[in-house]
Amino acid sequence: MRSEFHSKLLDKLVDVGEPAFNMAHEKLLDMVINADLILGSSVTESRSLSTEEWNTLSAIFDELIAYAKIHFAEEMDHLRAHRYPDVEQHQVDHDALVDELNHFQRKVMENDDANIKEIRKWLLGWLLNHVNNKDFAYAQFFAAQKK
Ligand SMILES: [Fe+2]
Ligand SMILES: [Fe+2]
Repeated sequence: MRSEFHSKLLDKLVDVGEPAFNMAHEKLLDMVINADLILGSSVTESRSLSTEEWNTLSAIFDELIAYAKIHFAEEMDHLRAHRYPDVEQHQVDHDALVDELNHFQRKVMENDDANIKEIRKWLLGWLLNHVNNKDFAYAQFFAAQKK
């Protein structure tokens, strides 16, 4: 069962005007939420994460990174094909996110409870920040062109 907090996160995702991309964003956010549930359980239950939980987190991160890369590549193809003027900056933003994902994947692999707060804070922010600002910018640009 998804908590109210997690449902609210999903509700916050903006419509970027492309159903396939909206679905990809939801799928990515689902992975983020699944990872957050594990990280959050250590906080709410005031306990350490088990090795098994860290391994599950690491597997979610692997999937998250792989799926994010596929989505980013599809989005870039779309932006280039439709001559989005800020396409190069969008590529830079995606590359920075992949670097961050890899950085936090390494943090997960340290299996250190001291990193939980930091991982969690970043994990809940990066996707919504990108989609609701940078992806929303191309959505607005293309919507204005159609008028
Ligand atoms: Fe996106
Ligand atoms: Fe994007």
